[in-house]
Amino acid sequence: MAPSRRRRCNTRLALLLLFVLLLLQELSAVASSDDAPCDFPAIFNFGDSNSDTGGLSALFAALPPPFGRTYFGMPAGRYSDGRLIIDFMAQSLGIRYLSPYLDSVGSNFTQGANFATAAATIRLANGSSDISPISLDVQMSEFEQFINRSQFVYNNIGGIYREILPKGEYFPRALYTFDIGQNDLVSKGYLANMTTEQVQAFVPDLMEKLSAAIQRVYRLGGRYFWVHNTAPLGCLTYAVVLRPDIAAPKDDAGCSVAYNTGARFFNARLNETVARLRASLPDATLTYVDVYSAKYKLFSQAKQLGFRDPLRVCCGYGGGEYNFDRNIRCGGRMEVNGTSVLAGKSCEDPSRSVGWDGVHFTEAANKFVYDQIVDGKLSDPPVPLRLACRWGGRR
Ligand SMILES: *[C@@H]1O[C@H](CO)[C@@H](O)[C@H](O)[C@H]1NC(C)=O
Ligand SMILES: *[C@@H]1O[C@H](CO)[C@@H](O)[C@H](O)[C@H]1NC(C)=O
Ligand SMILES: *[C@@H]1O[C@H](CO)[C@@H](O)[C@H](O)[C@H]1NC(C)=O
Ligand SMILES: *[C@@H]1O[C@H](CO)[C@@H](O)[C@H](O)[C@H]1NC(C)=O
Ligand SMILES: *[C@@H]1O[C@H](CO)[C@@H](O)[C@H](O)[C@H]1NC(C)=O
Ligand SMILES: *[C@@H]1O[C@H](CO)[C@@H](O)[C@H](O)[C@H]1NC(C)=O
Repeated sequence: MAPSRRRRCNTRLALLLLFVLLLLQELSAVASSDDAPCDFPAIFNFGDSNSDTGGLSALFAALPPPFGRTYFGMPAGRYSDGRLIIDFMAQSLGIRYLSPYLDSVGSNFTQGANFATAAATIRLANGSSDISPISLDVQMSEFEQFINRSQFVYNNIGGIYREILPKGEYFPRALYTFDIGQNDLVSKGYLANMTTEQVQAFVPDLMEKLSAAIQRVYRLGGRYFWVHNTAPLGCLTYAVVLRPDIAAPKDDAGCSVAYNTGARFFNARLNETVARLRASLPDATLTYVDVYSAKYKLFSQAKQLGFRDPLRVCCGYGGGEYNFDRNIRCGGRMEVNGTSVLAGKSCEDPSRSVGWDGVHFTEAANKFVYDQIVDGKLSDPPVPLRLACRWGGRR
């Protein structure tokens, strides 16, 4: 009896040990998978000029100097003196700067593509009344074609195309980024003489369309989403100058209260929309990124951050409080004694300015925003960029 009991006891001990070992292994697997970076092989981006790396410029007229002067040494299709937030994001993930889908010269889509196009809206564009016809729905159909056609060419033609197109396996592992809404609210809202109430009234429609776009990417295989909210629009020089009746009253940072009320309304609905998608797309990871707060700091704490008067744009014409002239923008020219001369000039040191051209930020400001958002402290859930494939708060 005794030996058999001992054997049974040993078996139990062995089983227990095995169980503990398995548990430990499981725990360490979970722990390491939690902070192992996602190794996103690609980024596919959708949006407007906040993240356009040359789409509109390739499609219509190229941006003139002094755009691009700080980093690229020449215009690079970006609405800034240098890099954008999306450039810093790509760089930190070891991904080359995104080529615009619409740029057929010299593009390399191995690690993703950029569908963002300046002036894009979430709502459908209306042809001639819009600066850009490439609204979000168009960007979606471009993306759908991009998947199909890139894979057809990659697999059936090969050759050089294997060096400039992504592998099929990259699509489900890629990061899908969105930064859009500003033009719906400003160009198509406030600057079309709407009141904040009228602007707020169409926000549900924007949410429906943005939500549909994310679901479309999901159906096409995308799983990891990173969604920027909109800027404090009332701090943007063009918004303030072009709609003086609504620009006052201002808050302590010198930003228009009405505009920012509209922007925060949009952002609150966006946060809810992303939360709803998180619940309805079970194996997707969605990160809502509060870019508004990062950008607002550039205005409320400009001095402490080493910037000059943040609403006075670096590249513009006319001097004064804003150095912004609606007719002569950054890079704009005028006739002087029969010769065309550059009138919309850059300031000496763009790294000390927040606003670049009255609508967009300088590279220095973009870098500040990137630094604020990259570690996840302004995100819901608070996951760093390199871990944005994790479940974050939902685990
Ligand atoms: C396009 O025009 C229609 C009809 O006028 C309007 O309802 C819609 O809001 C417009 N869309 C944009 C983006 O301006
Ligand atoms: C992509 O391919 C799928 C499957 O072949 C097809 O159903 C879909 O219509 C295609 N989409 C486009 C935009 O060509
Ligand atoms: C495109 O970029 C990838 C890496 O991002 C690189 O390996 C490849 O050589 C590039 N293709 C060309 C044609 O330069
Ligand atoms: C907005 O109102 C101003 C002043 O009443 C007017 O001059 C302008 O043409 C209007 N703009 C639009 C887009 O309706
Ligand atoms: C977004 O909504 C979540 C709840 O889903 C909330 O906890 C969070 O504070 C909100 N974030 C922002 C920036 O409003
Ligand atoms: C334009 O020509 C007039 C007359 O020759 C001259 O006085 C003036 O300085 C010129 N203006 C500029 C900006 O060169």
